[in-house]
Amino acid sequence: MSFGRMPIANAFLTPCQFNDEYFYDLATAFCPACETFQIIDQPQAEQMFHEAYAFFTRTSRAMVDHFGVYADWVQQKFMGADDPFVVEIGCNDGAMLENFAKRGIRHLGIEPSANVAAEAARHGIRTDVTFFNLEVARRVRAQDGPANAIIAANVICHIPDINEVARGVAHLLATDGVFIFEEPYLGSMIEKGSYDQIYDEHVFIFSAGSVQNAFRPHGLELIDVMPQPTHGGSMRYVLARKGARRVAPAVQQAIASEAEQGLGRADTYESFRSRCERSRDELVKLIKGLRADGRRVAGYGATSKSTTVLNYCHLGPQDIEFISDTTPAKQNKFTPGTHIPVMAYEKFFGNYPDYAVLFAWNHEAEILAKEKGYAAAGGKWIKFVPEVKVA
Ligand code: TYD
Repeated sequence: MSFGRMPIANAFLTPCQFNDEYFYDLATAFCPACETFQIIDQPQAEQMFHEAYAFFTRTSRAMVDHFGVYADWVQQKFMGADDPFVVEIGCNDGAMLENFAKRGIRHLGIEPSANVAAEAARHGIRTDVTFFNLEVARRVRAQDGPANAIIAANVICHIPDINEVARGVAHLLATDGVFIFEEPYLGSMIEKGSYDQIYDEHVFIFSAGSVQNAFRPHGLELIDVMPQPTHGGSMRYVLARKGARRVAPAVQQAIASEAEQGLGRADTYESFRSRCERSRDELVKLIKGLRADGRRVAGYGATSKSTTVLNYCHLGPQDIEFISDTTPAKQNKFTPGTHIPVMAYEKFFGNYPDYAVLFAWNHEAEILAKEKGYAAAGGKWIKFVPEVKVA
């Protein structure tokens, strides 16, 4: 399925960059043999992850809390060794590793985007500004010894060479070490029709089946899975060296429920395609109708996900006046491809639109709790996951 010509999801830009914006074809495929759902073409890693990367984990209070709980769980379950060592692949601004650093646990964050890594360093995190691969794994193991835990969140699906990740992890992990990562879950995306999870950074949308198949050839076994509410439905995967740890019953249960959901069948993806098209047509009709009636429509959260929605639906500044976002690196810039102004939150707060498209729908609870004033002033939300509706 093609979502059409697509810019880089996090490449918020200034008008002088409009003319040389980078586009590629955002298209997905599913392999029935290894059960991998992935995008076909991906821009070069350096075009997405660099010294001006726009996504900072700390912009969501709920995510910071979530990573606190994640880190506590890792410490309680897997950091029993003397002087344990934890490595995070893609530590961003250090929201997760901070929970290890402040307890004096030996740690290292591997992060290719220099600006977010600098923010992590400011929070006392030891960082290595590079992409993770086997060579880096060798260097880290030689310097610091084997890792008791290698952790990641919303990162492993960003790396197209999954075999290189597996080789690096297999080299760096201690004999009884664990590799834990969590990512948006294929089962949730199919269930909710949340096609906006598909963008350049998300080269894979993983399932238990595909993770098992990808890491097994490298001697790594899926030993546990745990659904997570983050990013509209994620899955946490725990892997260990084959035979090193007991496999929890949850793994077989997830594989069985994926089969029941039809995640291995082509017709599931045919229905998903129709659902995406219907969602797009309904959203466009709703917004164009409101605009024709003279209503002001803005957006809430200049998410990476919104780049897919806006470009797939061909919605621009004539439809959506501005998008409010709390990230300074995105403010006073324009959305990739569709060139809608991104404004600081004060613009929303001080000048409520009639309707706001909830692009950060995965943070709905956090946002609705703090936007009671908007609703009280008569402001309405436009949601598009799982269905297009006004609320
Ligand atoms: P998010 O949905 O976490 O990620 P992605 O980019 O992976 O789709 O992005 C949330 C965006 O929404 C981020 O740019 C910060 C912004 N945001 C707000 O502006 N206000 C808020 O209250 C929250 C929670 C997020």
